[in-house]
This record gives sequence, C-alpha cells and structure tokens, in this order.
Amino acid sequence: MKMRPIGLIALGAVAALTLGACSGGGRGSDSATSGSGGGIAAGATVGVSLPWLGTQNWKEAQDMFKSQLEAAGFKPIIQAADQKVPQQQQQIESMISQGAKVIVAAPIDGTQLGSVLAKAKGAGVPVIGYDRLLSNTDAVDGVVQFGSVRTGEMQGQSLLDGLKAKKANGPYNIELFGGGPADPNAPNFFTGAMSVLQPKIDDGTLVVVSGQKQFSQAATLDWDNAKAQARMDSLLSGFYSNKKIDGVLSPNDGIARAILTSAKQAGQATPVVTGLDAENDSVSLVWQGTQWSTTYKPTDKLVAKTVEIIKSLQAGKGMPSTTVKTNNGKIDVPIYQLDPIVVTKDNAKEVFANDPTRLALLK
Ligand code: BGC
Repeated sequence: MKMRPIGLIALGAVAALTLGACSGGGRGSDSATSGSGGGIAAGATVGVSLPWLGTQNWKEAQDMFKSQLEAAGFKPIIQAADQKVPQQQQQIESMISQGAKVIVAAPIDGTQLGSVLAKAKGAGVPVIGYDRLLSNTDAVDGVVQFGSVRTGEMQGQSLLDGLKAKKANGPYNIELFGGGPADPNAPNFFTGAMSVLQPKIDDGTLVVVSGQKQFSQAATLDWDNAKAQARMDSLLSGFYSNKKIDGVLSPNDGIARAILTSAKQAGQATPVVTGLDAENDSVSLVWQGTQWSTTYKPTDKLVAKTVEIIKSLQAGKGMPSTTVKTNNGKIDVPIYQLDPIVVTKDNAKEVFANDPTRLALLK
C-alpha cells in the first residue's frame, strides 16, 4: 500500500498553520457570512452536531472539537444526537437560536437536515458537513471528510490482500457487511469495496456463499454491532454448517469485532476481517493477528481541517477553494478531502508513530 496519505495529511497540517497565522483579524463584526468578506467575531459561538457517540471516532471528535475550537478562541456548543433524527434537528435549531455563527454537522441521515439547515442559511450562518455528506439541501457550504468511496476501495483491497496472505489461491468463501443505510457514507463504502471485489466475484476467486451481495442485504441498521452479530450468526448457521468462511468485508471496527465474536462462537477459524476507525479495541486485535486490518481516519486531522475552514470564515476569506465537488442532489458541494490509511500488523507501528494512545496498544 502506498503511503501517499501521510504526505497529504502533512500538507493539510501546513495549510492549517498557514491559515492559522493570518486568521487573527476577524472583523469584530457579529454577522456570519461565507465568502463575502464579512468575517466572524473573535470568540464567536460554533455549533457542532454529531450523530451519536457509539463509535470511537465520534467521541474523539467531541473532545477534539472542544479543545481545538477553544484553542482557536471560539466558544463551542457540541452535542450528539443518539441516532435520533428529530433530536439532531432540535439540537441544531437550538444552536442557531443560541447565536452560533457557524454550524458543523455530521448527519444521522444526510437527507433529513434540509429544513433546519435552511434556517441556518436564512440566519446567515455557514454550514460545514463533517465526515458525512449533507444531501438535498443548498444550505451547505462545504464538507470535510475522508473520501468515502476511496475508503471502501481500500477496505475491499485489504480483504483481498488478507485472503491471499492467508491462503495463496482461491476460491475464497466470503460474506459482505455494510453500515447504517441512513448514513450517506455507508453505501459509498460498500460501492467502493464492491468496485474491487465484484470482478473477483465474477471470475470465481471470491464466492459470496449466502448470495447476499446487495447493499440493502448487507447493511446494518444504525451501525448497530448487535444487529451485525445476529446477521453473522444466521449466515453461519444457515450457510456454513459444513463450510469454512475465509473472509468478511466489515465497514467498521465495531462490526468487525461482532463478526469475529460470532465466527469464534460458531467454531470457525478466524476469518480475514476488515474494519474502520482504528478503534483501540481493534488496534489491539490487529496487533494480535485476530482482526486482519482496520482503516485509520485520524480524527484530529479532520477536526483540524474543519477548524482551519472556520478560521478562514472568521478572517472574512470565505470557504477555501477546492477542486473536489460532489453533487448532493441540489448543488455541487465543495469537498475538503483527506485520505484514510489501511493498517495491518505490518505497518501499525509506522502509522501510529505519532499517535501515542494507539502506539501504546502495540505490545
Ligand atoms: C463514519 C465511521 C463510523 C460510522 C459509524 C461513519 O459515517 O465515517 O467512522 O464508524 O459512521 O459511527
């Protein structure tokens, strides 16, 4: 795997520093306008709306937004919505009424925030999507994320690599899991992975024994690990009572651990399982050789990129320019994209060299 992502992230960090250096000159005006040179007052309130705290990345985001926004002189209001769309809508509405000058939103359902974001727009409050796309609305100024199709391609490739590493030749028996269907990332992760896996299914290298190859069949409602484990239990009892399962595409680490638990309980030898987020529990499993891989999306870098954009707005410079755009059903949304990194036992020490918490798990 090429290590290009680290270079990109390093560049992002340099850009952050550069912007940071010239962002002290907020106009002192209290009106938030994106791109019009208006600027945002020093010490302004920034609202951050997260979908839930059920996976480590969101807990990290909660802590890092607090520390990074405060360090930049802003007053953060950070709330998580426990996978309940109306709760998220109300939280954002209340951030607007408390005077937030920027809204950062990671939607539970990318299609369900249109009306509340329209209120933000009406109040002149710029909206930045965080990690997930905000769809079917023109009230979004940009989205900061790890490329979600790219993430899926990396997961698909990692599954193939792991299968080959464990057994030189196929055919390999595999199953496919997707994330929560409301999350705009989940179908993209699956599409990216299938772009790598489908040709190998077509040529017979990979066999999806259950035949469940559609995202709708593979998806895991609300990213609920227990639901994934129940599906894995029934796949194993229904299709693998006298077969070995070689590998499983898992969209994130929580689901990977559920799959591994189910396989163990069914008496299967450990299959090759992918993941996402480099959660502490899975970093340990990768290091022990139980989970084949995880895909690391450094939360601190994504939060830093978001804060860099907020500083640009504060300085009256508007949204930074980017050539990457995604159509969200209404408009072409500027995308500020970072690259994730696949982690296996082989490169874990190198990838986590600057992440003391994760590095400490590699022993
Ligand atoms: C995020 C993942 C996370 C998942 C479930 C996705 O949108 O990109 O990092 O594991 O949501 O919370």
